[in-house]
Amino acid sequence: MVDRVATWIRAAERVVVLTGAGISAESGVPVFRGAGGLWRQFRPEDLATPQAFARDPSLVWEWYLWRRELIAAAQPNEGHRALARLAARRAGVTLLTQNVDGLHRRAGSEAPIELHGNLWRVRCTSNCGYAALDDEGGPPRSQLRCTCGAWLRPAVVWFGEPLDPTTLDAASVAAEAADVLLVVGTSAVVYPVAALPHMARRRHARVVEINVDETPLSSEADVVLRGPAGELLPALERAL
Ligand code: OAD
Repeated sequence: MVDRVATWIRAAERVVVLTGAGISAESGVPVFRGAGGLWRQFRPEDLATPQAFARDPSLVWEWYLWRRELIAAAQPNEGHRALARLAARRAGVTLLTQNVDGLHRRAGSEAPIELHGNLWRVRCTSNCGYAALDDEGGPPRSQLRCTCGAWLRPAVVWFGEPLDPTTLDAASVAAEAADVLLVVGTSAVVYPVAALPHMARRRHARVVEINVDETPLSSEADVVLRGPAGELLPALERAL
């Protein structure tokens, strides 16, 4: 199966990769759903909605600062690195990610399209326009307020919020033009991102799922590579 996918990639003009939390699992960053998932331990409506932030910004920040600590201590894994090398060795590779952890960049991917934002970025909740990229490790709590006096917030997409339209457009255009779409480590249930593989397939892409478990996409994918991304992506790279 890996060889078959490698043949498709070699023949492809445009290869698009869509990743989710599963690609960072082997770096020790918890996923959201399933065994050990954050949404088994925490309620998204308490921590990842605009209403939760309006109710208790300190609590929401505490959770994001805890996640920053976990991520700062983690290293990109062989899956992230294989994807960075794939884009370096050939033209026409676009990386789309739902992850906010920044591990693709740390692995060397130059311009991942971060569909759900980035937890190292902050922006002001007023419309003063302030936005910044924090160092890994995050700002001390005393700097969680903007110089204008309003709260800063993590520049991530929360439940109930729209994705940035320019970012979503770029992802949709890439998906629709893809010859091969690799969908790696995502439960493929959170929309609108979960629609991208279907859009790609309706055009003409071969859709390949790489995941340790079955997802709603599995039955629609042209090929399913069942196993850890940190092993399958380097194996795919070796087969190219
Ligand atoms: P999920 O936690 O929903 O799904 C992670 C997927 O990775 C599951 O399908 C696992 O089977 C798979 N997986 C786990 N370990 C793996 C490994 N080593 N190799 C390959 N696959 C593995 O994460 P996402 O699909 O990214 O959004 O979640 C989508 C969105 O829901 C997130 O961006 C976040 C979350 O709520 C927001 O916060 C808006």
